[in-house]
Amino acid sequence: MPHVVTQSCCSDASCVYACPVNCIHPTPDEPDFLTAEMLHIDPAACVDCGACVSACPVDAIVPQKKLTESQQVFLSINADFYKDQDAGRARIGGTETRPALAKVTAAAEVSRDREPLRVAIIGSGPAAMYAADELLTQPGVAVNVFDRLPVPHGLVRAGVAPDHQKTKQVSRLYETIATQPGFEYYLNVEIGKHLTHDELLAHHHAVIYAVGASSDRKLGIDGEDLPGSTSATNFVAWYNGHPDHADDAFDLSHRRAVIIGNGNVALDVARVLTADPERLAETDISVNALAALRASKVEEVVIVARRGFAQSAFTVPEFAGLLSAPDVEVVIESDEAQLDAQTRHLLDKGELPHAVAQKLVQLEQIRERPAPAPGRKRIVLRYLLSPTAILGDNHVTGIEFARNEFVVGDDGAVRVKATESTEKVDAGLVLTSIGYRGVPIDGVPFDDAVGVIPNTDGRVLDAPGGSTLTGAYVTGWIKRGPTGFIGTNKSCAQQTVGQLVDDFNTGRLTTPRADNSALDRLVRERRAAVIDRAGWRSIDEAERQRGARAHRVREKITDEAELVALAATTNQVESRPRFRRKLRS
Ligand code: F3S
Repeated sequence: MPHVVTQSCCSDASCVYACPVNCIHPTPDEPDFLTAEMLHIDPAACVDCGACVSACPVDAIVPQKKLTESQQVFLSINADFYKDQDAGRARIGGTETRPALAKVTAAAEVSRDREPLRVAIIGSGPAAMYAADELLTQPGVAVNVFDRLPVPHGLVRAGVAPDHQKTKQVSRLYETIATQPGFEYYLNVEIGKHLTHDELLAHHHAVIYAVGASSDRKLGIDGEDLPGSTSATNFVAWYNGHPDHADDAFDLSHRRAVIIGNGNVALDVARVLTADPERLAETDISVNALAALRASKVEEVVIVARRGFAQSAFTVPEFAGLLSAPDVEVVIESDEAQLDAQTRHLLDKGELPHAVAQKLVQLEQIRERPAPAPGRKRIVLRYLLSPTAILGDNHVTGIEFARNEFVVGDDGAVRVKATESTEKVDAGLVLTSIGYRGVPIDGVPFDDAVGVIPNTDGRVLDAPGGSTLTGAYVTGWIKRGPTGFIGTNKSCAQQTVGQLVDDFNTGRLTTPRADNSALDRLVRERRAAVIDRAGWRSIDEAERQRGARAHRVREKITDEAELVALAATTNQVESRPRFRRKLRS
């Protein structure tokens, strides 16, 4: 009886390296790894040893006999991956991938012939923490992690939905990374404002930017700036207690909300808007958001996409999770779930990509369900609609769409084209979720066309297609654009750190002019409200204690002054001695 990868799979591939029989795919050295929505266990090859279970940072791997009813669907999602890939079975099976795998996992060895390597990492989310981990696997390396926010872990804390606590468990791994010798936090410090790139380089051999992609793409239509229209990212930041958004307010007095775009963020927001607030109360959702959701009048969330069902941007595991959500009915207008000619052709030939084939299986499951019970909250999936205007005078009252149809271009590719037909949908809240882009940092090159820091395999370039900038590196979404999952950042960071270590070992990095104690003095001079590792530990502890008193996972503190005050009691006491220890090493 095999083990099974379930919904919270983060794709960081820790399980792949733990598995003694190489039965988890795709592996980081296989071409489909970067686009895979999750990893899959081959039921025919799994010997049920359980090694992957303890390796998985988010407890996504479950023995078949322990699958819950809502997890049963993952049995076929795992198994079908190997059926769908039978043509490439030789490629992904067997032991021939082992040597390449070992090459990916082997961290570049830092030269002991030079002074200890010192690296600043900007950002403290998954990309940053995997880079820190990769560097700290070697003795003597010092890593200082900076974040403009007073709390760490980026999108794991402020992006992952509160009802996805298993996914948030990956922060336990980040806590472990942060306890390694040589690690220090400088939270609440903004690069480009409190410190410059050049000042960082004066105190480190290298700087790695891991700041993510925090701004949203806009629709560019009339009414987009009306009250009641905003980005799903802002809504997510609000319910997750992001300090910049904790005091935002959203009008939940209308019975319908509309989300434009149908990726996983859209599913998260729709789920949170329709969930039983008492279930959310046990999570770490922000206190403000919980109060607003308890008073919410939203009964229906409409998720709208330009293209068809087969092109849905959400992933199979997230959609499977939505279909098993206890509080809501998921509804699809059947005439809009039609397939385009290309998808139908591939379906008939049995050549659909695994993820699309699985989405069609899920579509059938929805169609076979009995009619939704009256009075239940609904999430309605709509397709082939492009928003043309957000309606309302002083506040959103609805949204207008053009209906689209499939057309085949001269190149044979299927696209959608707006027809003359239009439709208006009443709504009091419109949230856009159509993609992210990076935000420039003062003093660091930026490729405005694609919204990333220009780079070659993680080495920053002085301009797109330009020359390498000595000592500057990049990882995560700000390196490759907003693609992949939490764990995708692990292999991304391995590549960047590999380049950095190679540059250090071959003498291409400049020895810092000043040491760690000078950096510490400079940071505290410029930013008295800096929060270090000990300070974060106090905050973390306080949040957990408040949560426990209220029978919650944690109660997030969102007020910056309160966070700084909590951290200050330990900043001076615990951090400095540890810092001196680091200097002696
Ligand atoms: Fe199966 Fe996991 Fe062992 S996939 S072979 S139980 S490492």
